[in-house]
Amino acid sequence: MQIISAPTEMQAFADDARRTGPTIAFIPTMGFLHEGHLSLVREGCRHGDDIVVSIFVNPAQFGPGEDLDTYPRALEADCEKAAAAGATVVFAPSREDLYGDAYQTYVTLEKLPQHLCGLSRPVFFRGVATVVTKLFNIVKPHVAVFGEKDYQQLLVVRRMVQDLNFNIRIIGGSIVREADGLAMSSRNSYLSPDERRRALCLFQSLQKAEEMVRSGVREAEALIQTARDIISRHPDADIDYIEIFDPETIDNLKRIEGPARMALAVKIGKTRLIDNILLTP
Ligand code: PAJ
Repeated sequence: MQIISAPTEMQAFADDARRTGPTIAFIPTMGFLHEGHLSLVREGCRHGDDIVVSIFVNPAQFGPGEDLDTYPRALEADCEKAAAAGATVVFAPSREDLYGDAYQTYVTLEKLPQHLCGLSRPVFFRGVATVVTKLFNIVKPHVAVFGEKDYQQLLVVRRMVQDLNFNIRIIGGSIVREADGLAMSSRNSYLSPDERRRALCLFQSLQKAEEMVRSGVREAEALIQTARDIISRHPDADIDYIEIFDPETIDNLKRIEGPARMALAVKIGKTRLIDNILLTP
């Protein structure tokens, strides 16, 4: 596996691959890789010959007071894990490589960020759309894989790819969970053992909603209220949002008549966690 840090070198690699034939599959990450990331790498292997994993903690998607400086980093271990999962290239640029002092160009979406995570993290999707655009221009993939764990991000990327005419197929990968159901996340490493136990309330509340839908409940408000009750039992859990929405438009749903997504963001102590589930009546 090659490790590349210079954008120009990555571009030369991509140009060469595109000239000679191999399909490039791309998995962008911020590193500290876990099984969730690695499942996307394996999915990428099914769609490409050159499997490029990027590792870059993107400053543009962190707001003031967020965890940019403490975000966990482990480049060496990440490269080993990526290689074992089938990556052929790790692209790990430095901050200066992607955002020089004179940097001033950003990609913004008009509507999708005005929901869910976009409301409490106002610069987040602008940062994501910008860095993903830059990475697409550097890695030049045919296919890119994103996780459903960050469901709104997946929709933002799909929209952006259509709107800006990127000739890249976007594939969504399902959420990988710990044995007890907690969605894997690099940020889980922030949790104390006690918080780790309490963090399970996110998945438990989604599971409860799924169960209620299966038993015939259709009112979104009833599902959301039950989720609130489950999470509020934990004194240290601070709910940012719990919403049920159309899986394509993110418009809120009052009733579950067809496939719907339920998503939530909860702070457990200082750690903000997100999760979501598909609800089908
Ligand atoms: P990061 O949080 O490192 O996630 C990288 C990719 O892994 C994303 O597509 C995310 O949805 C996926 N992922 C994370 N946890 C997962 C899980 N438990 N199961 C399945 N997939 C999971 O998302 C980002 O980085 C950044 O915003 C990025 C797209 C790289 C832009 O900076």
